[in-house]
Amino acid sequence: MQLEYVNRETYRNKTSTDFIDELHQRHGDFYLLAEGGSNQLAVNGCAEIVTDIGISFDSITVACGTGATLAGIVTALNTDQHAIGFAVLKGADFLSKDVTKMLAESGHSTAHNWRIENSHHFGGYARTSPELFTFIKQFKSDFGIGLDAVYTGKMFFGLFDLISKGAFDKGTRIVAVHTGGLQGNAGFPELTTD
Ligand SMILES: Cc1ncc(COP(=O)(O)O)c(C=O)c1O
Repeated sequence: MQLEYVNRETYRNKTSTDFIDELHQRHGDFYLLAEGGSNQLAVNGCAEIVTDIGISFDSITVACGTGATLAGIVTALNTDQHAIGFAVLKGADFLSKDVTKMLAESGHSTAHNWRIENSHHFGGYARTSPELFTFIKQFKSDFGIGLDAVYTGKMFFGLFDLISKGAFDKGTRIVAVHTGGLQGNAGFPELTTD
């Protein structure tokens, strides 16, 4: 692999034709993997998450970076099921727009049974707080399931918060998707040392 540095401004224009054309001039033919692996194939693949769930449910929740996982999940839901994506980035207003676009590109422009929760990002991407670490440790001790501090920890924290605030009707069956990411905890001594 050859790593090449680009500055922030160039990175912001990473999807522009000019930038991609220039890459092709320099590197010839290549397969462009979008940021976060977020492309149509990813959306199609994430639809399979739902088909793999062997129980009936009313709501499904997932952590959101680019929103491709959420979009894929939504494409596979029945109209009486609902999805909530917990944004892990601050000010992720672009997310709803991006997910809407991904849904339209997948032929699901009429799917409105989903929403983005923007209140549990803990200050931004990979930002944390002692409260989040305490929650992750308590979750592990209560359920024996590890969570990461960047994605799944924030999603489960947000989900428990919504439940405690009565956001779900009694008896609602909720599936919370654990998307992995535990390797990210290597960067958080609070979670790797006891
Ligand atoms: C562990 C984990 N969960 C959730 C996500 C969010 O996925 P998406 O970018 O499809 O919203 C990511 C993205 O990198 C991830 O690593």
